[in-house]
Amino acid sequence: MSVVVNNVTKLYGKQKALDNVSFKINTGEILGFLGPNGAGKTTMMKIITGYLPATSGSVTINGREVRNNLREIKQKVGYLPENNPLYPEMYVQEYLRFVADLFGVEKKDRLVADTIEITGLGKEKHKKIGVLSKGYRQRVGLAHVLIHDPEVLILDEPTSGLDPNQIVEIRNLISSAGKEKTVMLSTHIMQEVEAICQRIIIINKGRIVADRETGRIDSGISGAAVVVEFSGEAEESQLLSIPGASKAFRVEKNKWIIESSGPGDIRTGIFRFAVDNNLTVLYLQKQEKTLEQLFRELTE
Ligand SMILES: Nc1ncnc2c1ncn2[C@@H]1O[C@H](COP(=O)(O)OP(=O)(O)OP(=O)(O)O)[C@@H](O)[C@H]1O
Ligand SMILES: [Mg+2]
Repeated sequence: MSVVVNNVTKLYGKQKALDNVSFKINTGEILGFLGPNGAGKTTMMKIITGYLPATSGSVTINGREVRNNLREIKQKVGYLPENNPLYPEMYVQEYLRFVADLFGVEKKDRLVADTIEITGLGKEKHKKIGVLSKGYRQRVGLAHVLIHDPEVLILDEPTSGLDPNQIVEIRNLISSAGKEKTVMLSTHIMQEVEAICQRIIIINKGRIVADRETGRIDSGISGAAVVVEFSGEAEESQLLSIPGASKAFRVEKNKWIIESSGPGDIRTGIFRFAVDNNLTVLYLQKQEKTLEQLFRELTE
């Protein structure tokens, strides 16, 4: 089930929280949604799930416009809000049965038991939600989201505040859910995105500044760098004539860092340059840009 966001703009008074945002999430894809505080992530998620109207633009899920099909969308979409609001006075199992009733699910007993099992809440199911640890409360939130087996999951910082063991468990849960579902999650943890997402979108001040597959994050980004060592001397001006080269820094006598500006790979050009100038390439290493570097570069 695909999610299509089309030219969405959101104004809060005069503030533009989202500025003409468009993207698509494909079925079976886990999309990581990154951005600094205040970038517009939560706002975007509320609009996708129909909890907030866009000022202009539209969101369609499975071809159906969200704002005109709210009831249907709420059946199809599981939304874990940022602060995970729950009823502290209710007991875990009781609460999940209540949620199952709200969604009118069939075979409720079975479903509630299964959901408790997969979210690891077995030992806590007879406790009041209010006494649970933060991590277990987060699991109850996830159980809530999963109980009616929605095809789309929109998770706003699902692992925030969890200990490292719980983070791994929740990530595994999301990864396995993501095999069949369409998932979008926001996070501030870069490793999380690298661990479970096939794609990332980085948003800054309400605009998308990157939309790419993980694992290929440096493609097309200005500043991808190659470290190269030649057998003899080269001049900066010569190196800058290599197609795509934008900067060249000398690190040692014959060793350089060459940055490229375009999407192409400049390594071919470097070899050609060496041959043309009777030099040998003694060492060549492409510097992969980390997601964290990319994030800082695009949002600072
Ligand atoms: N109801 C509101 N009224 C006025 N401004 C709002 C409202 N909700 C959000 N904003 C503003 O819109 C901008 C985007 O907020 P949003 O919560 O979407 O950011 P975010 O990317 O989720 O940030 P964080 O990482 O801190 O959760 C912020 O400047 C925020 O102050
Ligand atoms: Mg937020």
